[in-house]
Amino acid sequence: MKNLRTQLFIDNQWVDSVAGDCFETVDPSNETVIAKVSRARSEDVDLAAKAASRAMQGPWPRLPPVERGTILFKLADLIDGNSRNLAKLETIDVGKPLSDSLGDIAGVSDTIRYNAGAADKLEGATIPIGPDHFDFSVMEPIGVTGHIMPWNYPLGMAARSVAPALAAGCSVILKPAEQSPLSTLAFAELCEEAGFPSGVVNVVPGFGNEAGAALTSHPLVRGISFTGSVATGRAVYQSAAVGLKKVVLELGGKNPMIVFPDADLDQAASDAVVGAYANSGQVCSASSLLFVHEDIREDFLVRFTDMSKKLTIGGGMDDRDLGPLASSEQYDRVRSFLDGASDQGVRVLFGGDRPSHMDRGYFIEPTLIECSDLGQPIARQEVFGPVAVVIAFAEQETVVEMINDLDYGLVAGIYTRDISRALRLVSEIDAGTIWINGWYIGGAQVPTGGNKASGIGRERGLPGIANYLELKNVGIRI
Ligand code: NAI
Ligand code: MG
Repeated sequence: MKNLRTQLFIDNQWVDSVAGDCFETVDPSNETVIAKVSRARSEDVDLAAKAASRAMQGPWPRLPPVERGTILFKLADLIDGNSRNLAKLETIDVGKPLSDSLGDIAGVSDTIRYNAGAADKLEGATIPIGPDHFDFSVMEPIGVTGHIMPWNYPLGMAARSVAPALAAGCSVILKPAEQSPLSTLAFAELCEEAGFPSGVVNVVPGFGNEAGAALTSHPLVRGISFTGSVATGRAVYQSAAVGLKKVVLELGGKNPMIVFPDADLDQAASDAVVGAYANSGQVCSASSLLFVHEDIREDFLVRFTDMSKKLTIGGGMDDRDLGPLASSEQYDRVRSFLDGASDQGVRVLFGGDRPSHMDRGYFIEPTLIECSDLGQPIARQEVFGPVAVVIAFAEQETVVEMINDLDYGLVAGIYTRDISRALRLVSEIDAGTIWINGWYIGGAQVPTGGNKASGIGRERGLPGIANYLELKNVGIRI
């Protein structure tokens, strides 16, 4: 990897945007500009879509699948070989502690290897319809795909949708979030080195209402994967509907953890702290809503508070437990939740402020807020910051009602030693993922995605590859 890449990557070429202008990307640890990055607009997305469409007429989808896998395996090795540089780019671009970024990049190569290994296992079926016919199905790539990414795990989110698309034989156009383009551009350079044919991988950094909207409405784009907010997800879905594109949406959550009196409270509290505050809470599956049985409320809160108070906070490269929020907009959004909450008289058990010793950077302390029910916006809405809400409960039924009353349905966690109770709850709770006695359980193999406002479809695992495949059925009279 040579220099910081700041141009668009289209058709295996590094190019300026047609209009020739740039946007700035900022280090949220110190509010300084890191780089000016070419700003893709609809005319640039059009060039990328045409290149990606030509790639679908070329060798890429016709390669023996094992050879597609070989290129992806090579990409994974290149990512491992450049992991420090990629991690550092994510750390300066979004403020994430360096150790966390290194862990995320290791997850990127895992994800690519999982999909590389699956490339030659995407089988169809033979379907018995009687002695006079032979019927079979084949799985084909859907075509050009657009990937609109968030800033909380820039390459992690990109890999989880781009790797299966490439394994399936699709070409891809990646639009990183405007807050975090740098690692995705470095990724493009590694794709070039791995040997993808021209036009198979394209990267168009830019803004959502420009490059993003151009991608969702482009007639050559056949599928869209989007991770981000509910409001933008709705706009993406509407735009994709006009062109009848396949869509996968991952739209975040307000994720309940239910802690029963018989739970291992040390485990539950330590998982809740990591779940709520890792990546400064900017995680779709954060443990942001803690339902704790009233009999153990005190015991749980003592543990949770002790552990939280030990967390250190600092700039991304200082590699403390928590970094800043990723951007000034995110800082303002989290602040407005906190300011609104204190106006509504909820109890702030700790935190709620900028650390007193830090005057630059978008820092907010780990915060715990107690509510009595889901009446306050901070109890129901995704804050996407280091803010957990705790609600004490008496009856299991009322907790289930409250959880199912949330707009979101991404993850729910159940902490109990009573496996029968846990398994009954699995079927009662409306969420795409249930974790029992652990948090952040998963990996490249495990499908993830949400119910209700948390999204449409699943990513990762084999269902994640199916997003990029279309079944063609062939019937023969014999
Ligand atoms: P956003 O949903 O607006 O942005 C996500 C991506 O969508 C970015 O790449 C953006 O450029 C693009 N985009 C924006 N408008 C678009 C449009 N009209 N058409 C196509 N693409 C468009 O999210 P934002 O503003 O960065 O964050 C707001 C909130 O969203 C956060 O506070 C958090 O609650 C949630 N969020 C959830 C994420 C998750 O992991 N599910 C990730 C990021 C944000
Ligand atoms: Mg930045």
